[in-house]
Amino acid sequence: MKILVTGGAGFIGSHIADAYIELGHDVTIVDNFSSGREENCNPKAEIIRMDITSSEIERLFEQKQFDVLNHHAAQMDVRVSVNNPKYDATTNILGGLNLYEAAKKHGVKKIIFASSGGTVYGEQQEFPANEEHPKNPLSPYGVSKLANEHYLYYYAQEHRIPSAILRYANIYGPRQNPHGEAGVVAIFAKKLLAGEQPIINGDGLQTRDYVYVGDVVIANILALKDTMTGAYNVGTEIESDVATIFRNLNEIIDGKCAEKYGEAKAGEQRRSVISYKKINKETGWVPTVDFREGLKKTVEFFKSQS
Ligand SMILES: NC(=O)c1ccc[n+]([C@@H]2O[C@H](COP(=O)([O-])OP(=O)(O)OC[C@H]3O[C@@H](n4cnc5c(N)ncnc54)[C@H](O)[C@@H]3O)[C@@H](O)[C@H]2O)c1
Repeated sequence: MKILVTGGAGFIGSHIADAYIELGHDVTIVDNFSSGREENCNPKAEIIRMDITSSEIERLFEQKQFDVLNHHAAQMDVRVSVNNPKYDATTNILGGLNLYEAAKKHGVKKIIFASSGGTVYGEQQEFPANEEHPKNPLSPYGVSKLANEHYLYYYAQEHRIPSAILRYANIYGPRQNPHGEAGVVAIFAKKLLAGEQPIINGDGLQTRDYVYVGDVVIANILALKDTMTGAYNVGTEIESDVATIFRNLNEIIDGKCAEKYGEAKAGEQRRSVISYKKINKETGWVPTVDFREGLKKTVEFFKSQS
């Protein structure tokens, strides 16, 4: 199949592009390289440096006649979205619409969208949250992800373009950007390896659900099937707190760093964990990489980079 992976120079998108190429698909990557990196890009992919909001997008769809749009490009920093909701919406909402309109016009048969199970539900009432949980996002980023989900419902109903919406928990693994505000595993691993002191925000007992990037790639392979449509959580149903992540990484690396706590981040969600029963029931997907094993793989990657 001819597949466009937006954000294919980034952390998750680059692993998906690799897997699709491995399976024999013809992959094009569109990325503006705002956080993506050349070295993440598979040399067998066609790489196009373009912003998803660009008016050139439509011409690209016309030329290439993609079968599938796998949409991972985004402004993905929650705090940036809080400080600048218009900027977030320009990339995440208008950029998405620019792609979906081009997809509609040029015969795309399926859309796969990276949504966020960590933000669309807001402060959870049930643990783990299933797909029916009320959706009350508490950040412009979460609102933008949910808006894309609603638009994709519209394109599915009115224009017969089916979509698979993958609501990711917190993804970690090789190639995650350690310099951003998000991605505690990458940030802590990189600092510990450099002999720097990571700071645990607040009491360190805030929890998230961590999924290894390789398991997310499997969900994106399954999502190519016609039968997989609608919204699916991609999580592990396991909550891990930040202080425990610090201790695990510290132990894996050399056990030499003391724990240091800083200010709690205002407005930070306390707990987040999502159910994977739906995707499991329909496709058999399960998280296969245990957290400690995934942390070791991530540390190995950052070691090889330093
Ligand atoms: N990492 C997570 O834990 C997580 C969780 C939930 C959802 N997601 C979603 O998964 C997707 C990928 O996230 P990631 O962690 O790989 O982040 P990332 O920053 O590594 O990847 C995003 C990519 O999109 C590109 N990009 C950004 N704005 C663009 C634009 N306007 N035009 C073209 N390219 C642009 C960046 O250069 C980057 O390569 C995002 O949509 C994100 O919201 C990630």
